[in-house]
Amino acid sequence: MSRLEDMVVQAADTRERAHAPYSGFKVGACLKTADGRLFAGCNVENVAYPQSQCAEATAIGIMVAAGQKTIVEVVIVAESDRLCTPCGGCRQRLAEFAAPDTPVHICSPQGLIESFTLGDLLPAAFTFEPPAPGSQG
Ligand code: THU
Repeated sequence: MSRLEDMVVQAADTRERAHAPYSGFKVGACLKTADGRLFAGCNVENVAYPQSQCAEATAIGIMVAAGQKTIVEVVIVAESDRLCTPCGGCRQRLAEFAAPDTPVHICSPQGLIESFTLGDLLPAAFTFEPPAPGSQG
């Protein structure tokens, strides 16, 4: 099994555990980090709809909690007639930890549908160099 297939399997397996009773739309995401490890997450919805969390956000939280901060490849798995590309907020979340040339593979549980780069999905991304603490009023 190729590494990409491995990522699809992990995203698809995690997707099965999604908590999506309101939309009925289960999503899985798998992130590969610079050290080659894989971190998978699913969407977690809430009866107060705005509190819901996308699969990408779950995977990022697990990755950061495990001490990793560099994403080198992304797989997103959903079952849909349309491409399940990441929502706007998740494009920005991924950009916090990934480069514009990072591949983002949109997949079904059966495999790859289409590949993008993060820069394709979030061109001219917002960036900001925070000032040193205490240097501004
Ligand atoms: N969703 C994700 O988990 N990731 C995406 O990239 C797009 C949307 C989830 C959010 C919500 O639980 C469901 O899909 C329907 O919008």
